[in-house]
Amino acid sequence: MCMHPANANDPRPWPQQGLERMICPSAIAWVGTDTPDPEAGLIDRLSDKAVFMMGDNPALPRMPERPTLLDFFRLRFNDFTVQHLLASAKRAMDDGHDEKIVLACLLHDISNGCLVRPDHGYWSGQLIAPYVSEEVAWAVTYHQALRYVPDESVGYAYPASYDRFFGPGYELPDYIRRDAEIARNHRWYMTSRVVTLNDLYFFEDTDPVDPEIFTDLLGRHFRQPEEGLGFDNSPTSHMWRTMIWPNNFL
Ligand SMILES: [Fe+2]
Ligand SMILES: [Fe+2]
Repeated sequence: MCMHPANANDPRPWPQQGLERMICPSAIAWVGTDTPDPEAGLIDRLSDKAVFMMGDNPALPRMPERPTLLDFFRLRFNDFTVQHLLASAKRAMDDGHDEKIVLACLLHDISNGCLVRPDHGYWSGQLIAPYVSEEVAWAVTYHQALRYVPDESVGYAYPASYDRFFGPGYELPDYIRRDAEIARNHRWYMTSRVVTLNDLYFFEDTDPVDPEIFTDLLGRHFRQPEEGLGFDNSPTSHMWRTMIWPNNFL
């Protein structure tokens, strides 16, 4: 496995040094695909020279000891998610929206960055809940259901991209209909609705956005823990640690 270029001048040792460090992909990455269950074969390969990976993976940029939110943007999240989140938040900011809405746009798909895609609104809302206002976490959670539901009063239509993603005959599951209805009748409806209005795949024709433009806003509205995300013992610390060490066996 190749060393990530960002680690080239890092003199610190790596865990399990001298051993082959095998990665057993999480079931959610392969179940239902053509990839067979790798676990039994990897267990057969265990020896005094080959172990399962635990701790920093040299193929990924090493995270600081006290990671901040933007460290995850820079060092862990995939490019597509980063560009989409930054462009959505920049658009909301340029349109003069409230800072809480800009923050919700910046975080709305965060679980897609390096954690999990299915039910991404629910995962994203839960991941950030200890660090943002209840309204922001709520708006992120419910944007998933509201994305499917047009609202002519604000000029929001069913996304053309969803016809491409899922096919034109895609039928909404009951829980999405239910949660969209709950959201529509909630006092924070417009906060989540504005997230969906800025949730566009338009980054092909925009310049890359510098994440630093959100530093001041994050200082005001994101409760960055002193110990670093993943090490503060919040109800979602383990989710941040999973993104720091996504290849740990256990
Ligand atoms: Fe989303
Ligand atoms: Fe999105």
